[in-house]
Amino acid sequence: MTSKLIAPSILAADFANLQRDIEMVNDSDADWFHIDIMDGVFVPNISFGMPVLKAITAHAKKNIDVHLMIVDPDRYITTFAKLGTHNLTVHYEACTHLHRTLQAIKAEGMQTGVALNPHTSVSLLENTINDIDLVCLMSVNPGFGGQSFIENTYSKIRQLKALITKNGATTKIEIDGGVTDKNAKLLIDAGADVLVAGSYVFKSGNQKETIKNLKAIANS
Ligand code: DX5
Ligand code: ZN
Repeated sequence: MTSKLIAPSILAADFANLQRDIEMVNDSDADWFHIDIMDGVFVPNISFGMPVLKAITAHAKKNIDVHLMIVDPDRYITTFAKLGTHNLTVHYEACTHLHRTLQAIKAEGMQTGVALNPHTSVSLLENTINDIDLVCLMSVNPGFGGQSFIENTYSKIRQLKALITKNGATTKIEIDGGVTDKNAKLLIDAGADVLVAGSYVFKSGNQKETIKNLKAIANS
């Protein structure tokens, strides 16, 4: 079985000590850097943009998993590729021509990602699943870290897993929002491959140890 991945969300890092927190992730058992980009339009919050991502990629030694919570993401696909993004995730709800957007991401040499809001049915991916490397299931409403996990996510994971299997796709399932040591194992057992964790990691006393534990639970 391929190993299950942990992606700390930098949104919860200490921005005044960003390099320190990036080095912590570099030295930890984490697999990816999860980077939340918010535009204040698609979601009711603004996080950070390209100059900050540039500063992050200058130090990051692991894959950069960018989660775009922005309208009309096609405008910035090339920019994110140039900034060293490995996975570029767009929101289903923000794309009028999702298939075209996925082709554009692929053409830039990045892995394709599609995020679904809690209210969005996984069945809407029926016709694109073979073009998607990563589906990010939002287990909170996007826009803020530190919110509580929505329990309906388990059933969405199972539905998505069935859709992937039925179509012979190799898509990974990522869970984003409210992930802790309490739900990690249940999420993996339901079919998740990647767990994003922000507050749970960065607000903990020993962050490296927290990541190590989460990784061990996910692979137990
Ligand atoms: C929410 C973001 C998440 C967030 C997760 O809009 O997409 O990635 O940073 O934070 P926690 O783990 O604190 O729920
Ligand atoms: Zn995210």
